[in-house]
Amino acid sequence: MSKPKDESGPRDPYFIAMQDALTKAGIATPTLVIDRARLNANIDTLMGHLPDGMGYRIVAKSLPSLNLITHIRERSGTDRLMTFNLPMLLALSEAMPEASQLLGKPLPIQAARQYFEDLPADKTEAADHIQWLIDTPERLAQYAELANDQDRILKINLELDVGLHRGGFEPGSTLGETLKAINVNPNLEMAGFMGYEPHIPALPTTLGWRDKALKGAWAIYQEALAQAALVFGGDRIAQLTRNAAGSPTYRYYEDTSLANEISAGSCLVKPTHFDSELLEPHLPASFIATPVIKSLPTTRMPGLEFADGAKRSWDPNYSKTVFIYGGHWLADPVDPPGLAYNSTFGRSSNQEMLNGGPDLSIDPDEFVFFRPHQSEAVFLQFGDIAIYDAGEIVDMWPVFPASA
Ligand SMILES: Cc1ncc(COP(=O)(O)O)c(C=O)c1O
Repeated sequence: MSKPKDESGPRDPYFIAMQDALTKAGIATPTLVIDRARLNANIDTLMGHLPDGMGYRIVAKSLPSLNLITHIRERSGTDRLMTFNLPMLLALSEAMPEASQLLGKPLPIQAARQYFEDLPADKTEAADHIQWLIDTPERLAQYAELANDQDRILKINLELDVGLHRGGFEPGSTLGETLKAINVNPNLEMAGFMGYEPHIPALPTTLGWRDKALKGAWAIYQEALAQAALVFGGDRIAQLTRNAAGSPTYRYYEDTSLANEISAGSCLVKPTHFDSELLEPHLPASFIATPVIKSLPTTRMPGLEFADGAKRSWDPNYSKTVFIYGGHWLADPVDPPGLAYNSTFGRSSNQEMLNGGPDLSIDPDEFVFFRPHQSEAVFLQFGDIAIYDAGEIVDMWPVFPASA
C-alpha cells in the first residue's frame, strides 16, 4: 500500500465567498444552500438539450420545496410535475391546481382515497390533471372502483418495465388485457406510459452492453405503444403522454420518436450521485454549510493516543481535527480541501469529527461545506434552504415536510 499524499491546501474562493454571505446573513447553524446562478445554468442546460416538441416534467421529490419548484417552473416554462407521495401530491394540488401531475410510483389505493378526502373543495380542478400510475391489473381494478365511488374519470398512466425490473408491465397479454379494461371503462381514461431506465448508464460500455440495454428499453417501449395502438388507434396514441428518463438518462433522448417528455430533477442541483459523464455539463448547485465548533491542531484518538504519531506520519491527512455543528449526513466534505471522516472515531449527528492535513486552516465559526449524495431526503434535514446569488443570501425557501 502506498503512503497517502497530503490532500490539504488553500480554500476555494467560491466557498470563502459563500461563507462570507452566510456570516453576513447571520446564519450559524447547519444549512442547505442552493447557488441560484448555477441552478439557473442547469435549468438552461437541460432545456437547451431538449429537442423540439420534447416536454419537461419536474421531478418534485428531488427538488422538495414549493419555492424551488415554482422557480424551475417559471424558468423552464413547464407545467408538468412528477409527484411521489400523498403529502406532496396534496401540497402541489393546492399550490398549483393547474399543473399536470404524474405519479412517479404507484400510490396505494387507500392513499389515493385519502387524497380525494383531503383535497380542498376549491382545488378539485387539480384532480383532473393527475395521471395515476398503475403497475398491475389488480391495482387498475382498485382505481376503477375509486373512480366509480368518486363518480369521476381518472386518468391512467401505465408503468412499463423497460429493463429496470422495479415492476410495471411488459408487452404481452397482461398489458393487452389491461389496455382493454381501461378502454371499456367510462370512468378510466388512458393517459400514457412511463418507462424509467436509470440502470443503463451504470452498465459497462464494453461489449456494447449499455447500447444494447438502451436499444432493448426502447424496443420494449415501442412494443407497448404498438399494443396500445391496437386498442385505442394510432391517432389516440400520438396524444398520449410518453414519459421516459430521469437525470442520469435524459440526454439519451435526442428526438421525440419514442418519448415525448422526459422527467428530471436531481441534475438541476447535482448531488454527487449524479457526477456522471453524461451530466458533465451540469454544475453542483447544492451544498451543506455548517460551522466549525472546534478546530484542533492535532488528531487524538480516545484511548489510542499512543498510536496518534504513527498514524499521522503514515497518513498526513489525519494531522488536524475539526468538530462541526451536526453531521452524519449523506454528504461528502468538499471545502476546506482534504477533509475526511474518521472511521475509527465514528460518525456523529451532534458534533462530527473531520480530519485534515497539515495545511488545513479553519477557525471556529467558519464554515465547512459538503456536497449531498442525493437531494430528496437530505434537503429536508435543514429547515429553509438558503438561496445564494452573487455573494449574498438572497432568499430562504421552505421545504416540504419530511413525510412520505
Ligand atoms: C419514475 C422516475 N422518473 C424519473 C426519476 C428521476 O429523478 P431524478 O432526475 O431526480 O433522478 C425518478 C427518480 O427516482 C423516478 O422514480
